[in-house]
This record gives sequence, structure tokens and C-alpha cells, in this order.
Amino acid sequence: MNDSRFQSDEWKIIETRFEPERGRDSESIFALGNGMMGQRANFEETYSGDSLQGTYVAGVYYPDKTVVGWWKNGYPEYFAKVPNALSWTGIEVKIDGETLDLARCEVKEFRRELDMREGLLTRTFTAVMPSGRRVNVTARRFLSMSDPECAAISYSVAITGGSGQLQFTPWLNGDVYNEDANYGEKFWENEMAECEGARAVVVAQTRKTGFVVATAMENNLTVNGWAATVTPVLKAGKMTAHCTYTCEYSQGDIFELRKYVAVLSSMNHPAENIGHQAMRAAGEAAQTGFEAMLQSHREAWSARWEHGDIVIKGDIEAQQGIRFNIFQLNQTYTGEDPRLNIGPKGFTGEKYGGSTYWDTEAFAFPFYLSTADTHVARNLLLYRYKHLEKAIENAGKLGFTGGAALYPMVTMNGEECHNEWEITFEEIHRNGAIAYAIYNYVRHTGDHDYLAGYGLEVLIAISRFWAQRCNWSDEKKKYVILGVTGPNEYENNVNNNWYTNMLARWTLRYTASSLESLRTTSPVKYNGIVTRTRLSPEKEISNWNEIVQNIYLPAHHDLGIFLQQDGFMDKVQQTAADLDPAERPLNQHWSWDRILRSVFIKQADVLQGIYLFEDEFDEETIRRNFDFYESRCVHESSLSPSIHAVIAASLHDTDRAYTLYLRTARLDLDDYNREVKDGLHITSMAGTWLSIVEGFGGMRIRNDRVCFNPVMPVAWKSYSFIIRFRNNPMRVEVNGSEINVVNLSQSEIPLAVYGESVTLKAGEEMKFGKK
Ligand code: BGC
Repeated sequence: MNDSRFQSDEWKIIETRFEPERGRDSESIFALGNGMMGQRANFEETYSGDSLQGTYVAGVYYPDKTVVGWWKNGYPEYFAKVPNALSWTGIEVKIDGETLDLARCEVKEFRRELDMREGLLTRTFTAVMPSGRRVNVTARRFLSMSDPECAAISYSVAITGGSGQLQFTPWLNGDVYNEDANYGEKFWENEMAECEGARAVVVAQTRKTGFVVATAMENNLTVNGWAATVTPVLKAGKMTAHCTYTCEYSQGDIFELRKYVAVLSSMNHPAENIGHQAMRAAGEAAQTGFEAMLQSHREAWSARWEHGDIVIKGDIEAQQGIRFNIFQLNQTYTGEDPRLNIGPKGFTGEKYGGSTYWDTEAFAFPFYLSTADTHVARNLLLYRYKHLEKAIENAGKLGFTGGAALYPMVTMNGEECHNEWEITFEEIHRNGAIAYAIYNYVRHTGDHDYLAGYGLEVLIAISRFWAQRCNWSDEKKKYVILGVTGPNEYENNVNNNWYTNMLARWTLRYTASSLESLRTTSPVKYNGIVTRTRLSPEKEISNWNEIVQNIYLPAHHDLGIFLQQDGFMDKVQQTAADLDPAERPLNQHWSWDRILRSVFIKQADVLQGIYLFEDEFDEETIRRNFDFYESRCVHESSLSPSIHAVIAASLHDTDRAYTLYLRTARLDLDDYNREVKDGLHITSMAGTWLSIVEGFGGMRIRNDRVCFNPVMPVAWKSYSFIIRFRNNPMRVEVNGSEINVVNLSQSEIPLAVYGESVTLKAGEEMKFGKK
């Protein structure tokens, strides 16, 4: 039974009621994006009710000056925020002088539909205005996936009864602000606003960072399908532009306003002439027309679904949930520009400032690696490669030397933005996730050249950091890493976080072995790297090897588990099942002090390490750790359940995996955390994909082979997913009795199902019995 606010549908999200009190929630759910820009689903017509206006342009940020109580040396001066940019969806509608505003109308019918197959948002409503006029509206809009600087809106109005005057005023408004601004400052200043013929443009510049964004529109109006004969009046203000059409209406007339928009940023165009260029682009969009633009946009979406869809049979809510997640991930990042990345909320809200977190490498990276062309994941790696100098500078500010790099916890341009010491300085495991993504990319794509070209420079710099960040303990006769915060942020400043120490050891080992294999296979490239990074192999690599051999990894031998950190067993040992449900989530009911001292874990920590390094442990060890830590985990980060689901599935505990999967699958659609109003959990959506592909599908890359160990949730009849291995697409379908694998590419794919190795020829299909 569906108790969601949204109707069950395999491809659509459908809302059938106008619920002003949930307006912000729906603005997040129905948000649109195309990798270059995005926006919340604000209404086109005037709306005086509660709303969070949100339009965002990828890569454009404002350095909002830091607010902090006690300033610590090493803190960044600012937190980069993607500013709420010029709002371009607006179309004011006046009927006989009365403004159409749903907050003041009696809304008789209301339907909003997001078609995820096509990337099209449609809203229809019938409203009775205070004067009694009844009006029917259909609004359709999309942000083009095929021409990502352009968007279009079709807005149709029919008025029932009588005749009179109808006025449409499509507008652009750059006089916007962020709700999340530390000092209530405006982030934009005016450059110019201008009208020329049927077009208008507003050009604004971000304060301090000087990004210039030009937003232009061209509109056209039809009445009953014929071009309207009215001449619009265009007017430019300081940060605004308006274009007013005044017409006469009679009963039965249908007016359709089409608004074509182009958004150009100085990231991609010279700033000098950007306003005129934007006007030209809006004009070209108008020439192409709404239907033709929509057709190319549909085709672009269809190509994405063709190579990244997941089909679940027997559970329509699960199907809708996973498609929603895949849709949002593709709206957020398309991978064409290595300067861009994935904010935890994408383009759907202001929280997290649109900046980059470890979420990208730890959660989102595998999704793009498996569902998009190789260059997309490569661009995510290049983003960090380009920030290497800044990461070295960042480590320098904290006292590290000799080319050691500490990548920021939160960043837009490579500089650290985060300013809580226990995270900024201590949550250093992020460095490990960045190193691991390089390994993941190479084993998945087979692009070993990436290491010699770029990857090793990053690995060396991160290894230098780990080598300096640990110290020899005379007491333990081991290398230790002190004063860190693991992924479990419900605990700070701990010593020897097992996950962090494992990552440090792994990075040092991987860097040393990758250098060694390059030295033997390609001495010239090896020498090039040694010179570029001023590496001293005798001194540095042997030091890394020494740390690898002797790093301390806390464990409890009687329980047969790894210890999250030193002293973990001193805590009062309880499980989440002991908690009073009325006290959850803990972060809303307990003091921070009580949380820090408790045994409760926010998100996978030891288990995050087991997820990454599972091949190093036997099944019993994994099971013991899983049972111990999962029972203490309160999953108060949306990133948590998916990693647990993957491990549970690998332990053939399909029911537990399914229960955990359910916590992420429809997190936003059903608003489990009561915070969807702030935006969607984009990076955790990738976790849901992981739960299915790596969890139920058991996909792993081992020894140059793509391996599957599928399990089947009882609630489903079958599921299938399309992934790429070595850039070759394949479809894997699992039902109650068999696994069907189809090679959709023109090349051979080395494969293993339940440990049976085969080579799948181009276009070949093979079936395996389900275990
Ligand atoms: C999580 C972090 C994550 C951040 C952004 C926090 O709640 O604990 O691991 O990086 O959210 O998603």
C-alpha cells in the first residue's frame, strides 16, 4: 500500500494536491537540473506563500565570510557557497488587473508531474481567484540536457467565463539573496540589464569572486495556437527585466506563453560580451522552438537511461525510488567539466553550500564510474588533481611540509571552507577516500596511464601527509595516528581510528606498489614523476613501507572485532535497540556531550573500512564486526544505511540488507528525516544505487574481471541494472531462479558469477543458476 504523498508510478513523480504547508518540500522534490544549472521547483506565477527561491549555476560560488566563536589558527576565512542566482522562471499573470497567486486563490485542482524519463516538469491547476474568476493553467518546463545553457517554459492559461484583459509579464530578477548568508549580505551586484528587440538580459557579478552570469530571455505568445498580434513592452530595471503582453480574452481562448532562457557564465565565456551572447542564445532557442528543444532534451535523457537504468519488478515504490535517485544524480553532474563536482544537495537547496565533500569519492564516484563514459569519472578525479597545489598549501598551513597534501573537508576551488576544528583538522580520512577513488577508477576502467599522468602525483602527496601525520609510539611500539575524527562524527578527537589507520596504511602501500610497477614497466615515466614530485625513493618509500608494516590497528581479540578507536570498549555498551524511540534521532534529543560519550555511531565507520577492504577479511570476521557495529549505529547520516546494506547482502543476510536499503531508497520522496524542504540528499542517492548494484547484485571488480554474487530481496520478482565495465555496457538481470547477463558492447567482457569465470563475447547473453 502506498502511503507516500506521491502516486505510485514507474517513471513519474506525481503530486495531486496543493499543500502550501509542504510547498518547500515539493520545491525540492520537483527540482530540475542539467549539470550546468539547476533550480528548485518554484512556481512561475506570483506566489506570496512560503517558498525557498533557488536557482543555481554550476561552479559559481561566493566566499561567505566565516562565522566562528573561537578562532583557531588554520581556519579558513570563508565558506564557499553556491549563491542563489537570478530567478528566471517568473511569469506574472494578471487578469483584469488581479494577480494570479495560488496563495490567494481557492485551488480546485492541482497536479504536478515530474516525468523522469524525459526530464519534464508539468504542473496543471484550476484556481478560483478572489474575484471569482476561474482560471486553468498548464505549465511545462525543462532545463535542456542537450544544450545545458538553455531552458524553456510553456505556460498556458484559459479563463472560464466572461471576457476582459489578460496580462502576461515574464521576468528576470537578479535581486535575490541566500537564506543561508552568514552576514545577511547580498552575493550579487549589478552589471547591466538591457532589452533589445524581443529579448532582454540581466548580467550580474558575484561580489568578491567576480563570476559574471548573464541570463537572457525571449518570449512568444500564441492565442488559440496563432501568434498573438500584441507587441510586448520590454523594460529593464537595475537587476531586473520585464516583458509585458496585454491582450483581450474571451471565453474559451487559450493563451500560451513560451519563455526561452539562456544562462551563460564567465566560467565558459569571456565576460566582456556575455550579455549579448546570452541574448543571442535565448533567441536561437526561441528559433528552435519549445517542441524541437524538448525533443533533443528527451533524446539526451533517453541515452542516459539506456546506460544507467535499474528495473525492479514486483515493487513499484522501489522502482520509482531508484529511478528518482538515478534521475537526480544525472541532473546534478554530467561529467563534462573537471571544474565541477557534486554538492551533497546538488542544485536543490542552499544547505552544504553546493560545495564538494568526501561524499563524492566515497559514495557518488562508483555510480558515475559504472553508468557513464570513462571520461566522467576521470573528470571527477581531475577535479582533485587540479586542486593538488591548494591541498599542499592547505597541509602547509597546518604545519606539514615537503609536498604533503591534505585535501579540504569542504571546498569549491580547492581551498578549505570548513571551520569546526574537529572536522576541518581531524576528519582527515577524506584524504584516503580521494586516494581510493584513483585505485577504484584504474581497476574499473583499466586506464593505467592515469596513474602515470596524474594519479601518482596525488597519491604521493597524500602518502606524504599520512607519513607525517602518524608518529611512533614508544608505548605501543607501533605507528599511531592521534587526534582524528572518523566518519562517525558522534565522536571527535579520538586516537587510532581504525578506519583512518587502515586507509593510511592502504594508501602508503598502494602508492609504493604503483610506483614500483611503473619503475619496472616505464622507467622514463617513473623518472618523470620522481622529478616532478621531488620524490626521494630511498628515503620516502622505505619510510612508507616501514609504516605499512608497523601501523597500529586497534582490535578486541576476545570479541574478534576491530576497535573503532582506542578506548571504545570503555564506553557503556548498549545497542540502538535499547534506545527509547522517542529519543531518536539522538541529535535532536540529546545534548552533544551525551552523544559524544555514548557508544552510538552516526554512520558506518569500522564498517566503512570493511566495505572498502573486504577482500582482506574472512566472512566470519566481517560478520562479527557487522553484528557489533550495526547494532550500535543510529544511521543519523543519510550516507549510513547503504554501506551497511552492501555488507549485509555480502553476508547473504538479504532481509537485513533489504531493511537497510529501504531506509535510503525513498529517503527524500517520503521525507523520512523531515528535512527535504532544505533540498535532496544527492550523495546519499548514490548510496541507494550502491545498495542495489554492489549490495543485492554483489558487483565487485577483482583481478580485471567484473564479478557478481547476486541475492534476491523477497519483496521483488526481479531486478536488472545496466553498468559498464572497461567502458563496455552490460545488463545483469536477477530473478528468483537465474542470473541473465547480456553483453551490450562490441567487445569481450571478462566476468565471474558466483565465482565461475567466463568471457562474454560481444552481444552474447549467458544464464547462470541462482544460488
Ligand atoms: C556526514 C558527512 C557528510 C556530510 C555531507 C554529514 O552528516 O556525517 O559524512 O560528508 O553530512 O553529506
